[in-house]
Formats: sequence, structure tokens, C-alpha cells
Amino acid sequence: MKITVCKDYDEMSRRAGEIIVRQMQKKPDSVLGFATGSTPIGLYQYLVKAYEEGKIDFSKITTFNLDEYIGLPPDHEQSYHYFMEENLFSKVNLPKEAIHFPAVEGELSGKGYDKAIEDAGGIDIQILGIGRDGHMAFVEPGEKLSIFTGKYDLLPSTIEDNARFFKSREEVPTKAVTMGMGTIMRARKLLILANGEAKRDAVSQVMEGDHVSTLCPVTFALMHPDASLIVDEEAAGYR
Ligand code: GLP
Repeated sequence: MKITVCKDYDEMSRRAGEIIVRQMQKKPDSVLGFATGSTPIGLYQYLVKAYEEGKIDFSKITTFNLDEYIGLPPDHEQSYHYFMEENLFSKVNLPKEAIHFPAVEGELSGKGYDKAIEDAGGIDIQILGIGRDGHMAFVEPGEKLSIFTGKYDLLPSTIEDNARFFKSREEVPTKAVTMGMGTIMRARKLLILANGEAKRDAVSQVMEGDHVSTLCPVTFALMHPDASLIVDEEAAGYR
């Protein structure tokens, strides 16, 4: 695991952005795994700017998002479809048919999503944020972690964390579809980002670097052959 501690959020976003830009320049038909949440917003802004400056081109890129709430229509302001559209997809030349999200039913549900990723050649770089409890995507801590894409019940702590984006706690979906731990681990490179004090516990378990635990899913990334953790000083516990 390569760990980079940045001064602040902007530096974290820039460092991550540079990695994605280099990947897209080296392989214009890259398969990218995207994450939502407040953490990668700065990274997406970096990519939009790089696109506007003509440094990157999305016309041959394929994307797979990590997860989506169950029960929100794609045009709901808090759906991850909407988030990606707002923060990246509507601002770059990524073809609509190149965008993929895990679905509740149909071809892109469950193991069908894993197969679609495999058929596309596998994910070159998977971007990931971390939940306060160490979850990645919506793979919540627990006795068992699902290997494949599928449905997950969200833990009360995650519902609580995400409530800030909704009008009330009652509106927050309690279930989601998400890549499984195996789906995530099969990406050729993991790019994990974390900023702010709330992520300190989860980040410290990764920085200790000597164990994995299903109770802190992000620790599984320690076994990945090419994983990078980019954090700010607050998440690293430096201040
Ligand atoms: C949700 C998402 C995760 C994300 C996490 C952290 O649970 N499913 O992919 O990493 O939120 O969000 P934030 O970046 O807003 O802290």
C-alpha cells in the first residue's frame, strides 16, 4: 500500500487527479471505477478542468460506478446517478452508453455487473472513498463481506452520516446496490481517498498496516498488489 499524506483537501484532490490524468493519457480507452460522496468532488473538478484544457479525452473511456441507493429514481438529487451527472458526466465528452451503475434487477444486477466489468476488460483504476466505519462503496462492516455485486442493508451509522444530504433521516434509503469486496479487489489499481477528522479511525487501521478485518472493510485494500491511499493531514491524524 502506497500512502501519501497531503497538506489539505486540495492537494489530495490534485494528487489523485494527476494519477487519473496520466492513466487516461497512457490508455485513452481506460476503464475507470468511480465513487460518489463529498470526498472525490475535488478530484472530479480537477478532471473537468483537465478536460477543458484539452489534456484528457473521455470519448473512449468506460466507467463503472461503485454503488447506488435502492429506492431513489436516477433524477433524484441524492441519487448517485444524479451526483455523477452533476459533478462529472455532464461536463465532459463521456458517451452515455459507456456509463454503468449496478442495478437492482436485469443485466447489470448482482454478478451480471461483475461480468460486465470483466467483459469491458476489467477496471484499470478504481477510485474509492471511505465511510467513517471503514466501509468502501456500500460494503458495510460485518461478520461477512459479499464478494460479488449485490444488495446491502445500510448500517444505522451510515444512514446517520448520509442524512446530512437529505431533508430528514426518514428520507435516507436503508438499502443499496454495491460492488462487492471481490469486485473492488479485482480492479488493477485502487485509489483510496480520505480527508477530515471523521475518517481518522478507519485510516489509522490502514496506516497500521498489519491486519485485515471485515469490521473495517478498507483494510482489505492492504492485500491489493497496487493500492494507493491518499489522505489529508487531518485524516492521517497529523493535526
Ligand atoms: C457513501 C458512499 C461511499 C463513500 C462514503 C463516504 O457511503 N457509498 O462510496 O465513500 O459515503 O462519503 P463522503 O466522501 O461524503 O465522506
